[in-house]
Amino acid sequence: MNISIQPASNEDLDEIYRLELECFGEDAYPRFLLKYLLDNRDSIFLKASIDNLLVGFIAGLCSGDSCTLYTIDVKKEFRRRGVGSMLLEAFEKRALEKNVKKIILQVEVSNTPAINLYLKKGYKITRRIRNYYGLGRDAYEACKTIWVGENISKSSIIFYRDDFEDR
Ligand SMILES: CC(C)(COP(=O)(O)OP(=O)(O)OC[C@H]1O[C@@H](n2cnc3c(N)ncnc32)[C@H](O)[C@@H]1OP(=O)(O)O)[C@@H](O)C(=O)NCCC(=O)NCCS
Repeated sequence: MNISIQPASNEDLDEIYRLELECFGEDAYPRFLLKYLLDNRDSIFLKASIDNLLVGFIAGLCSGDSCTLYTIDVKKEFRRRGVGSMLLEAFEKRALEKNVKKIILQVEVSNTPAINLYLKKGYKITRRIRNYYGLGRDAYEACKTIWVGENISKSSIIFYRDDFEDR
């Protein structure tokens, strides 16, 4: 199975909205919000395709050094084959390129597939938000620090110390 991950564009909006409706029904993000995210230069919006067929997408908005992951959707018949993981990994890579340090998300406490995906990818649940999705429907907020600091090699530190001691 050859899965490709690429930036989504306005041409994908109809398919993306259809998939969002398929995944979330009346809780789906409205079309205008998805369009807003597609058009926004601070957003990260990626699609997963197999043989030119859109099978998933991921969308989030960055602000300062953090990025909020809005949603990740994979078509039912393509789930459990690593597509969600690939989308999340590509999203984090793109976020790092935008100098983002941490990703924040909310997920319904009953959404076991998504919670397991996030935990598997190193996200930590930070709090429970009561009634986030409506009365009696709580969310977990989870986050992951993706920026782990500059990678200073040992040799460059020694060089610096030698240089310093010569003065
Ligand atoms: C959540 C979702 C994106 C996962 O996509 P996916 O392509 O199936 O994910 P992957 O195949 O990469 O699975 C990665 C891990 O997630 C977890 N997972 C995925 N589906 C699961 C399921 N049905 N039950 C339990 N754990 C599951 C597992 O830990 C899995 O690793 P494993 O296969 O080695 O056990 C997909 O189920 C989906 O689109 N759900 C509907 C939309 C949604 O709820 N989005 C989240 C909004 S917060």
